[in-house]
Amino acid sequence: MINKKLLAICASAATFATVATGQVAPGEVVFGETGAVEASLTGVAGDPVNGASVFKNRKKGNCLACHGNSAMLDQLFHGEIGPSLDGTGSRWSEAELRGILVNSKNTFDGTMMPAFYVDSGFTRILPKFEGKTNLSAQEVEDVLAYLQTLSE
Ligand code: HEC
Repeated sequence: MINKKLLAICASAATFATVATGQVAPGEVVFGETGAVEASLTGVAGDPVNGASVFKNRKKGNCLACHGNSAMLDQLFHGEIGPSLDGTGSRWSEAELRGILVNSKNTFDGTMMPAFYVDSGFTRILPKFEGKTNLSAQEVEDVLAYLQTLSE
């Protein structure tokens, strides 16, 4: 069993460059029935400060493209496609928020929100994005830690 798993890790190392040892690979994330993900993707506590910068970074989370966030009024553009994230840390549990970040399709059927920790199953994909996730496992944990600070 162990050998098989090691082989699988070695085989995927070339394509899944973002998945480091000790992290849950995108295809191995376990979802609950309502889309929540109980287990940390990395086992390392999320850093809310880095999470905030990933959140507003237009090339990373780009969350403000679709969401308002009153805690970031220094940022010019706030989108209205999704609900405001004010107080979202009080509305959802840690596991629910992790599930929404990893693949919101499991929580919200047919949502426009992108999956941030999925590396296959996209309908259209540029070759340079193949085998890559939008965010790394630790970036997901960091954004999650930031979302938990948005409480009411
Ligand atoms: C392309 C638009 C889009 C982007 C980009 C996006 N979301 Fe969303 N998000 C949505 C929509 C739409 C919903 C509402 C769910 C639905 O479709 O019913 C949602 C729902 C959510 C919810 C649940 C909202 C609540 O409090 O009730 C959270 C949390 C969330 N998004 C976080 C994020 C974070 C964090 C990012 C950036 C890493 C992000 N979203 C990026 C569109 C987006």
